[in-house]
Amino acid sequence: MVGGNTKYATGGLNAAGTTSQADLGIEDSIDIFYEDTMVGGGNINNPELVRVLAENGAGTVEWLKGIGADLSDVGRMAGASVNRSHRPTGGAPVGNHIVDVLYAKAQEMEIEILLESEVIALLGDATGVTGVTVQTNSGNFQIDAKAVIIATGGFGANNDLVASYDPALKGYGTTNHPGATGDVIAFGAAFDLAYVDMKEVQTHPTVMPSNNYMITEAVRGNGAILVNREGLRFVNELETRAVVSDAQLAQTGASGFLLFDQSVRESLSAIEGYYNKGFLVEGETVEALAANLGVDPTALVQTIETYNGYVTGGVDEAFGREDMPRALSVGPYYAVEVAPAIHHTMGGLVITTQAEVVNNSGDVIKGLYAAGEVTGGVHGNNRLGGNALADITTFGRIAGEMAAESVK
Ligand code: FUM
Repeated sequence: MVGGNTKYATGGLNAAGTTSQADLGIEDSIDIFYEDTMVGGGNINNPELVRVLAENGAGTVEWLKGIGADLSDVGRMAGASVNRSHRPTGGAPVGNHIVDVLYAKAQEMEIEILLESEVIALLGDATGVTGVTVQTNSGNFQIDAKAVIIATGGFGANNDLVASYDPALKGYGTTNHPGATGDVIAFGAAFDLAYVDMKEVQTHPTVMPSNNYMITEAVRGNGAILVNREGLRFVNELETRAVVSDAQLAQTGASGFLLFDQSVRESLSAIEGYYNKGFLVEGETVEALAANLGVDPTALVQTIETYNGYVTGGVDEAFGREDMPRALSVGPYYAVEVAPAIHHTMGGLVITTQAEVVNNSGDVIKGLYAAGEVTGGVHGNNRLGGNALADITTFGRIAGEMAAESVK
């Protein structure tokens, strides 16, 4: 199928200074977007790539809208200081929508897409690429090309490779599609491709341990909290993924409950998908939800009363959460057990700001471009929610323009 991990992406596509933000009265800037991304990535990101990401986000959103995307809803994701995660009206999942829009455009333009076809070698020599070798069930063939764009994604589904860089993640579940195996390392080997930040692997903190289904960060962005088995909050829910994941692992059972009320449910239509799949534990009251979760009702009622007090007062005295968009006071109440799972591999191919691939001698390989999770340097040691879609669409667009220009 077309799409990869983008099919699963839910919470949003980050951009600053868009017409969607303006329509909602949200003030943002390229500099704040840049700063959030650098801070979120531990300041080890490649600043030039982050600058490109921040400066081109709004143009990318308008370009996507121009070919039919609905990116009118804008919400908050963890680590962002402004609402800038763009998604369809009502908060519907964004990734599948973008894949549909791009696929329809490709079909309209009669661009050939080969499925069930695996690239097994890059062709060419030190002076540049000349094509790829493709393997299919009915045999191998060669595609001659003056330009090749590598957009094969990360390696989050290859646990052996992940664990070779970060042994603590051996045996972890993943949110990734099965094809996210880092094949470029094999098919690009002859070109001495340079890699960066390979040991930086991110876990997403709200993944159902029973089936590795990711519950979007946007649920927290729209007001949900995290509680442990003792019925207590234990972290600023909008901290970066590394911080929230670590806090969760320190709780009884190494997991937590993502908890919200009917008002949060109504604010984000992605939640309907979770409800319809039967993922959510429900209770008409907080006490009833606590009983269904096996959590002490008195503690949970107290936790929610205290949190609602913080919302009213505008200050989270316990954990310093800055954005608390709504109190949790409208029944029914819902919860789902969540724990960390491997989500994003920040490391990958070294690229220039023009999406050109670089070898270990520091030279650009003529005709070879890369975009998205297969590349490294954009996200530092921690990618912010919504920045993967920003990355693939902005650098994908640049890679496409560069490739088109280079073959003229
Ligand atoms: O939680 C999410 O919706 C994930 C988004 C992302 O990783 O960008």
